[in-house]
Order: sequence, then C-alpha cells, then structure tokens
Amino acid sequence: MSTASPKGLFISFEGIDGAGKSSHIAGLAQAFRDQGRVVTLTREPGGTPLAEKLRVLMLHDAMDPLTEALIAFAARRDHLVQVIEPALARGDVLISDRFTDATFAYQGAGRGFDWNQLSVLERMAQTGTALQADLASNFMREPDMTLWFDLPAEVASVRLATARVPDRFEAQPGEFFARVAQGYAQRAQAAPQRFVRVDANTSREAVWEQITQAVVSKGWLSSAAESKA
Ligand code: TYD
Repeated sequence: MSTASPKGLFISFEGIDGAGKSSHIAGLAQAFRDQGRVVTLTREPGGTPLAEKLRVLMLHDAMDPLTEALIAFAARRDHLVQVIEPALARGDVLISDRFTDATFAYQGAGRGFDWNQLSVLERMAQTGTALQADLASNFMREPDMTLWFDLPAEVASVRLATARVPDRFEAQPGEFFARVAQGYAQRAQAAPQRFVRVDANTSREAVWEQITQAVVSKGWLSSAAESKA
C-alpha cells in the first residue's frame, strides 16, 4: 500500500429544505471512514465559530436579499480559510452540508437577487483562500462533486410540515421552494461535470444507492460501500 497522503476531496450536498440530505451525509462520511479516509464534516452557513454566528443572524433576522447574500459569502469565506482549505491540504474528505449553489438557489432564484452579481461575489469569496499562488492564477475553489437532492417542492413541504419550528427559509411558501428547486436545476445545467442529480423522491435505500454509485464511479470509494444502505 502506498504511504503517500490521499488527495483531498470536496463533496457538497444540496437540495431544498426537506429533501432528506442529513442521514445520507452521515452515511457517506462513515463509508469513507470505513475505507480508511479521514473525513471533515461541516455545513453552511456555518462550520467555524464566526460563520456559526452569521448563520444565526441569517436564519432568524429579517434583512434584504443583498445583506443575506453578503452574509452567506462572508460566512463562506471564513469557512474556506479556516476549515475547508486546511482539510483539503491535509488530504481529508471534506463533506459540506450546502455550499455556494445554495446561495444561487435561495438568494438568487428564491429571493430574486441578481445571478450575475452572485457570480461576482462567488469569485471574490472563493479565490485566494489557500493563500498560495491561487490569487495570481485566479483559481476558484469549488466542490469536486455536488450531490443535488432533487425533490418536487410539494413533496418537500409535506415532509417539512412535521418538522420543528421553522427558520426564515423553512417558513417560506411553496412557490419559494419551487423557485429554489429551479435555481438548483439551473446551476446543475451550468456545471454538469460537478453535479450529480439524486432523485430524492424515492426510498432511502434507493437514494443511498445513487450516492454510492456516483462516488464509486469516480474511484473515490471501493464498491464495498454500495451494500451498506
Ligand atoms: P439547512 O442546511 O437546511 O440546515 P437545517 O437542516 O439545520 O435546517 O439550513 C440552512 C438554511 O439556510 C436552508 O434553508 C438554506 C439556507 N441557505 C441560504 O439561504 N443560502 C446559503 O448560501 C446557504 C448555505 C443556506
């Protein structure tokens, strides 16, 4: 066996509220650990003490869409510098519950904030984060793979109806989530090499199978993981 450290891997999970990401995030982290990888599990907004404070503001305080977008990217910048880049440099598998696609889907498609302006903020926040030669090369950090849980907004709202006290996003009407779902579809179409669409309108086992298939087909996990639904 080689003793060289493995290459860092960045995987994000996305989807509208109620799409059922949580248990699969834990399952995928375990599957990587079972095969000897070190996993850093994190989330957005959040993942650092500062970004977790910004998360509380973003989820509970009223604000306009620009403020919301700026807070999302401020939290993301801190998360990238403090957690994501160091984990990838160590060779970890970094799994994040949401990343920038959520800002395009929620603040862009959901709230109606300008898509092109979000692209400008995206480049600003995700460039030069490793403090290496990235700034000069204009390298922009993005996930290696985004597992997008696609679920009709009506189905998600039924699932959410039994959930805990809603935050500012969960309290939005069905049309908001229909727009958010559209936003994810638009991002997926623009980056087909990164996005994997997971049909989330099916059984837990069938969702897990789609996830492992995607990761195994990249050679990131061996097929032993596929049986562990
Ligand atoms: P979520 O990730 O669903 O966590 P929980 O399971 O604890 O509810 O909640 C985060 C919410 O924040 C979700 O409604 C999506 C929203 N969000 C944005 O609006 N923009 C963003 O950039 C991110 C990362 C999340």
